[in-house]
Amino acid sequence: MAAVATSLAARWGASGTRMLRSWHRSASSSSAGWAEDLLRHMDQRDTWDRFYSEKGASGPQHFDWFFGYRDVSGLLLSTLQGLPSGEARILDVGCGTSALGLGLYRDSPRQLHVSCLDFSPLALDSLRQLLWDSPPPRHPLSQLCCHLADATDLRDTFESGSFLLVLDKGTCDTLLRCPRGPGRAKQLVAECLRVLRPGGKLLQFSDEDPDARVPFLEQAGGVDVTVTEVGHINGVCYYVYTLVQRLLDSTDSREQSPQGKGLKSGPDGLD
Ligand SMILES: C[S@@+](CC[C@H](N)C(=O)[O-])C[C@H]1O[C@@H](n2cnc3c(N)ncnc32)[C@H](O)[C@@H]1O
Repeated sequence: MAAVATSLAARWGASGTRMLRSWHRSASSSSAGWAEDLLRHMDQRDTWDRFYSEKGASGPQHFDWFFGYRDVSGLLLSTLQGLPSGEARILDVGCGTSALGLGLYRDSPRQLHVSCLDFSPLALDSLRQLLWDSPPPRHPLSQLCCHLADATDLRDTFESGSFLLVLDKGTCDTLLRCPRGPGRAKQLVAECLRVLRPGGKLLQFSDEDPDARVPFLEQAGGVDVTVTEVGHINGVCYYVYTLVQRLLDSTDSREQSPQGKGLKSGPDGLD
C-alpha cells in the first residue's frame, strides 16, 4: 500500500491523493491496486460515474475537489464584478457536484447564466437535485443549466465566444495525470479559451506548482498566464491560474465555429 501511496502522490499532488485515499477506504473494492487503477482511468466517464454513484448513495450532496465554494467565493464574486459588462455567462467545466456554480448562481448580485458541464450523468443528476433544493438566486433573473458533454470537444455544445468566465477546479488536473494526459488536457484548455468572449477569463484552480503549470498553459495556448496563491487550505497550497482571452484581431474565431451550433439548453437544463 505504501508503494501505491507514493505513486499516487507523485502523479496527483498531495490534496487529490488524500481525497482519493479516503474514497478508496470507504469504497467497496478491497483491491490494493484499485486506487492506482482509478488514477489511470480518471479521464473516463465510467470512473466518475462510479465515484458519484458512491458519493450520492445516501442522497444528493456536494462534493468539492481541493476546497469548497466558501474558500473562493470572495475571489470569484470580485472577479465577476471586474469583468466587462453585458450578459454574464459562466461555465464550470467538469463541475461534478461542486458547490462552485450553484454558489455563484445563488450569491451573485449580477445577473448570471451559469452552465455546469460534466460528462458524468450521475454527477449532473445530483447537481440538478441540489439546484432544486437551493434557495432562490440573489438576482431574480439568474439561471443555472446543466450540460452533459465532453469538455475536450465542446464544438457541438457551445459557440465560440459564449462565456465571460470559465472555471476549472480539478478537471485539467484529472486529465493531466492520466496516461493520455497532456494531449487531452491541452484540448480542454483550448476549448475553454475558444468558448471565452474577448476579454473573458479562464480561472484554473489547482494544487500544481506554477513551475509545471505555467509552461503547460502557455503551450496550450494561453497568453499572459498569471498565477496567484489562493492560500493554504488544510495544509496544502492552492493556486489560481488566470488566462485572459485576447481581444479579437483580424481573424474572428467566431467565424471558425461549427455552423449553426448554438448554445443548447434542454427544458430541464440538461442537454
Ligand atoms: C477532480 S473532479 C473535479 C470536480 C469539480 N470541479 C470539483 O471542484 O469538485 C474532475 C471532474 O471532471 C469531470 N471530467 C473529467 N473529464 C471530463 C471530460 N472530458 N469532460 C467533462 N467532464 C470531465 C469528472 O466527471 C469530474 O466531475
